[in-house]
Amino acid sequence: MLAMNYRGPFRVRVDQKPYPEILHPGDAIVRVTRSCICGSDLHLYHGLVPDTRVGSTFGHEFIGVVEEIGSSVEKVKVGDTVLVPFNIACGKCAFCKQELYGNCHESNPEATAVGWIFGYSHTAGGFDGGQAEYVRVPYADVGPTVIPDWMDPDDAVLLTDVVPTGYQAAEMGGIKKGDTVVVFGAGPVGIMAAKSSWLFGAARVIVIDHLEYRLDFVRKYAQCEAYNFKSLEDPVLFLKKTTDWLGADVCIDAVGGDAAGSAMQTITGRKLMLQAGSATALHWAINSVKKGGIVSIVGVYGPTDNLVPIGNVVNKGITIRANQASVKRLLPRLIEHIKEGRLNPKEIISHRVPLEEAADAYHIFSAKLDNCIKPILIPPSARV
Ligand SMILES: NC(=O)c1ccc[n+]([C@@H]2O[C@H](COP(=O)([O-])OP(=O)(O)OC[C@H]3O[C@@H](n4cnc5c(N)ncnc54)[C@H](O)[C@@H]3O)[C@@H](O)[C@H]2O)c1
Ligand SMILES: [Zn+2]
Ligand SMILES: [Zn+2]
Repeated sequence: MLAMNYRGPFRVRVDQKPYPEILHPGDAIVRVTRSCICGSDLHLYHGLVPDTRVGSTFGHEFIGVVEEIGSSVEKVKVGDTVLVPFNIACGKCAFCKQELYGNCHESNPEATAVGWIFGYSHTAGGFDGGQAEYVRVPYADVGPTVIPDWMDPDDAVLLTDVVPTGYQAAEMGGIKKGDTVVVFGAGPVGIMAAKSSWLFGAARVIVIDHLEYRLDFVRKYAQCEAYNFKSLEDPVLFLKKTTDWLGADVCIDAVGGDAAGSAMQTITGRKLMLQAGSATALHWAINSVKKGGIVSIVGVYGPTDNLVPIGNVVNKGITIRANQASVKRLLPRLIEHIKEGRLNPKEIISHRVPLEEAADAYHIFSAKLDNCIKPILIPPSARV
């Protein structure tokens, strides 16, 4: 079968790989009909994630048709069209019971933090992901969710990660009616976080990025204010000034370790890797939230240390909330929001690329070319 194949930083190609097999009675094999490239894949592509092995296939955002099931699988059947959350979760451990599906202990007991994730390095289980024609799906009775008949497959594929992640970013912000929310990052996740902030009652939503085309998009798509940090002398000062010098009620970091905007952070975090990614957006979030406010982090950082102004967190009494999105927990609510027309995720898809051309799609998305917001990859069997 065709599958994306990681060859080292900034190098991917599409090769033939063996068809995946059922290895456990709880597995399913899914024929992929769409997969996305995510900002999280860019951390892998840029060589920032430990133990990303040459030969692995990325892709944690995919939908498809169940082709085979293991002997114990009961909730999905061959022929079902399913969306598959990016978290691989057992559904039974103490963390899954609290609906912390991104922190499943059973699936990744050797890691103290994250559970397994499709196509996300051996740190997150070493599973081949869905940027392929077929994919093995463990715990098939837990994650895969049958896509309702009325739902557009383009909406469904975005429910596997970016919609729940943006929504959870807003939810973790504890937004109250009338709050001012600042979202750092106008990528797919930040766009969804801005859009979702209104659903929680925000009165003002401000997005910060440095890509004009994304700022234009988010202004229209999420009806918010959006500013280019490159044209601001000091983004923190600007945000204080525009909030009566108090700061925002809630700041969301939807950027993570690939952040631009500070030479020192970029050199130490991205070039020399002396810290686990550049913490520029997080720094700005902590410094521009008001005293007693909440900083919600969904941007991804590595497992080691980051230079962040922890003294300001203490002295301002800031609450920090963060996690991988718990996709399965949020699906019922988000499916309802899409059905009622309050969320329309598919509008963020900017590029539809044949799976065979995944290398081009990675390059375009990574270099932010051609007004790229969200690329999806379509395998040959789904293109008829
Ligand atoms: N927690 C989760 O469950 C989860 C799930 C999906 C993605 N993520 C993470 O969310 C982050 C965003 O993902 P994405 O798909 O939107 O990625 P993306 O790369 O498309 O978008 C990131 C955006 O941040 C902007 N940016 C860079 N530096 C900035 C700064 N200092 N201030 C403000 N904006 C800045 C970039 O220009 C870009 O538009 C990534 O770190 C990704 O790994 C987390
Ligand atoms: Zn993702
Ligand atoms: Zn579990």
